[in-house]
Amino acid sequence: MTNIGVIGGAGYVGLVTGVGLAALGHKVISMDLDQTRLAMLRDGKSAVYEDGLEPILAKLNEMEQISFTDDQSETVRNSDVLFIAVGTPSLSDGAADLSAVIAVAEHLRDEISKYTVIVVKSTVPVGTLNIVTDILSQKLTEGEDFDVVSNPEFLREGSGLIDFFAPYRIIVGSSSERAKAVLREIYEPLLAGTTVVDVPWIDSGREIPYVETDAVSAQLTKYAANAYLATRISFINEIAGISEKVGGNIGDIVEGLGLDPRIGLGYLQPGIGFGGPCLDKDLRALITVAAENSYDPVMFNGVLQRNELQLRAVMNKITDAVGPSLYQKRIALLGLAFKEGTNDVRHSLSIRLYRALRDQGASVIGYDLLATKEALEIEPELEVSIDLSTVLSGADVVVVLNSETIYAEIDWPKMSEASKLPYVVDTRGTLDGELLQSIGFTYDVLGS
Ligand code: UDX
Repeated sequence: MTNIGVIGGAGYVGLVTGVGLAALGHKVISMDLDQTRLAMLRDGKSAVYEDGLEPILAKLNEMEQISFTDDQSETVRNSDVLFIAVGTPSLSDGAADLSAVIAVAEHLRDEISKYTVIVVKSTVPVGTLNIVTDILSQKLTEGEDFDVVSNPEFLREGSGLIDFFAPYRIIVGSSSERAKAVLREIYEPLLAGTTVVDVPWIDSGREIPYVETDAVSAQLTKYAANAYLATRISFINEIAGISEKVGGNIGDIVEGLGLDPRIGLGYLQPGIGFGGPCLDKDLRALITVAAENSYDPVMFNGVLQRNELQLRAVMNKITDAVGPSLYQKRIALLGLAFKEGTNDVRHSLSIRLYRALRDQGASVIGYDLLATKEALEIEPELEVSIDLSTVLSGADVVVVLNSETIYAEIDWPKMSEASKLPYVVDTRGTLDGELLQSIGFTYDVLGS
């Protein structure tokens, strides 16, 4: 059992990491400055939606396996290992904003009084670990008082706990053998499949690959993973654009492509583009790091450019349906979060689509299974309803923006009895187009 502090413990990555480590049997103190979230977490409630999180959190609270505080000094004093999980948002030039990481490092420099392993979980550009080490070295001795480790996270929002408990791999990067040994000890229960509370995601039949490397390679691996995922989405969106021009069927193309095991079927759905807090931000940060090191990342610039164009592709579908003027046209948007299964509306392309439609005078109504409240927080004027029939009735165009299964369960035949049949634009190919067409809808899927 290790005493672990998580700094930024109420944020998405910090929370999943803290809960995960506590469930492995470690004593975790989660430190954050957000008082509202801390109060909720002490009560077993999470501000971020994560499947299965709250019951485990409540149990770990009860067992006093995890605690929540806003006191960083107390966290440092009571921890042998500190995970840094603070945010690194994009600056306007695309570089990552490291001010939170730097502030934490300055604090640690003044507070650490025994050997402490600093684990950087936040996605930080290559070179940041050197900055952290330099700050700490102003008062402390590397190797004696502290060591710094990069242990990138690969958590998908909505599936964060699966990704923690059944990861495809664990990556640990450091120049210190001592620190690497500490990390191996921390992850040992996960590799052995043992937890102190019941978690349904442990897959004891599968060995979890554990990769040890240097800090630069660990950080670059994380950026490379997100850049690859972003590239895959821009790639399939490009194919969808071409397919549409030449009369192909994107569903069949994706299947034919993905059946090649070298390509695979996962993560190959065309749509409005990649949104959310990570892919775009990390790709921009990678481009900046490359440029700062005199490397021209031509391909990644293209991936971003393709993503920006995708919103226009969806707008074009809508104007194909109702004509060039959107003034007073009723548009229903199904899916407001940046993807299905989350209540996160940060960098949601659905919200950008709403703004573009609103600016052209359209009357927009939105629906989301999980993110209605969050959408209203950033767009208070957006009309929303949690009742799908209210959202759909009277719409000129219904735009399906994510692959939430609930849309396929709508009673479309009943809907077709309404006086006005909306035009359905399906960006994710989740609906049964043949059924919709057979009952009178005009159905248009991106890429076909
Ligand atoms: C991503 C990475 O998957 C995760 O490993 C990393 O740690 C953080 O960034 P996340 O941002 O939660 O996770 O979302 P993800 O599921 O990857 O989706 C990102 C975007 O791509 C969403 O807008 C989603 O709708 C879109 N997407 C995803 C597609 O358009 N098509 C797909 O096939 C998959």
